[in-house]
Amino acid sequence: MDRSRHFETRAVHSGEHRASAQEGRDGTFYPISTPIYASTTFSHPSVQTTDRILGGEEQGYSYARYGNPTVSAFEEALVSLEAPGAEGEIRAFAFGSGMAATHAAFASAELTNGATVLAAEQLYGSTATLLVQVFGANGVETRFVDAYDLGAVEKKVAQLEPRALVVESISNPLLRVADIPAISEITRAAGAALIVDNTFGTPYLQRPLELGADIVVHSATKYLSGHGDLTAGVVAAGPPYSDALEQLRKLVGGVLGPFEAWLGHRGLKTLPLRMGRQCENARAIAGHLASHPKVAKVHHPSLQAHPDHATAGRVLSGTGGLVSFELAAGGREAAFAFLDSLKLCVKAPSLGDIYTLAIHPATSSHRELSPSRRERLGVGENLVRLSVGIEHPQDIISDLDQALQRL
Ligand SMILES: Cc1ncc(COP(=O)(O)O)c(C=O)c1O
Repeated sequence: MDRSRHFETRAVHSGEHRASAQEGRDGTFYPISTPIYASTTFSHPSVQTTDRILGGEEQGYSYARYGNPTVSAFEEALVSLEAPGAEGEIRAFAFGSGMAATHAAFASAELTNGATVLAAEQLYGSTATLLVQVFGANGVETRFVDAYDLGAVEKKVAQLEPRALVVESISNPLLRVADIPAISEITRAAGAALIVDNTFGTPYLQRPLELGADIVVHSATKYLSGHGDLTAGVVAAGPPYSDALEQLRKLVGGVLGPFEAWLGHRGLKTLPLRMGRQCENARAIAGHLASHPKVAKVHHPSLQAHPDHATAGRVLSGTGGLVSFELAAGGREAAFAFLDSLKLCVKAPSLGDIYTLAIHPATSSHRELSPSRRERLGVGENLVRLSVGIEHPQDIISDLDQALQRL
């Protein structure tokens, strides 16, 4: 879609081929929402056409693992949000989960025997484990760096000459904000691929491909779909990565089903509305908690005290929908008591949903780490993470207040 259209407009219309969609049998209607093509294979008026499509000389659909119109609609919409104006060059590929998408992104960057990958210390635990265990078993060495310390990144890139650097646009759970333009200058100069997990940022807050990243990956299970009812992943990249991704998806086969793609596409249409509200709510909640006597510290990029407050102002168009905070009462018992007292906020892992979700990172997202590594990353027993939803902010604040009051 025309890049001069605003983000909100592209979110609603991209990927839909209304005028050219197949007409109703009597020629009087066409669907305004891309249908769910629940078909494993596609036939054509002539075998010559099938031959050309299978040979790659003509665009079209032949077999669902190679492509499905409902899945393509979702992918096109995602490209129009992540890389407006570069639709011809950048392609998106949907997968059955965020982890499947992440695996494909790494494989497309040729993380093969003998390669070194530099990864942010703050990465999502399963992403780090995927690198160390799965890619490690195939001869890839993973080294870690504090990706929010540019000096350290520069030094390690020069020293290790990695094939790729992996970072999240906003980290979990302390919501550190990566300086993607500065990091991409370092990786470009060194000839390394920059892979950005933009799950927490979403294209509403940042478009890493426009800032110099080579590959963007998402758990679409989170904000992109937004309703806690879909597991999916997406990778967006240009050549040579896009060619590798297409081939990898065909051969490894972790495709997204048409029902899930339809849900994901529907979710994208309200992404700006949801994210706008979630950012506003998170900012209000962070401000409220920052002066609460039962809260020791709040982590949110909107706060002056956040180490990346200035970076966020430069590289994000909002400060995100997650808020983490440390309770003044130390220890796991206080954190559990607080969480168990919540009446509106839902105690559940995951994030990015319309509902406000609350978790205890030390026993959920960061459970697999040793206590000393958690300590080093700042994930204490008294830390609580909120994924702020789209409810009225006052209702969320009242729920947090009554639970804090019980401590
Ligand atoms: C930042 C990030 N990346 C990737 C993933 C993996 O996504 P999925 O659970 O959809 O496989 C997650 C899941 O929590 C995540 O938080």
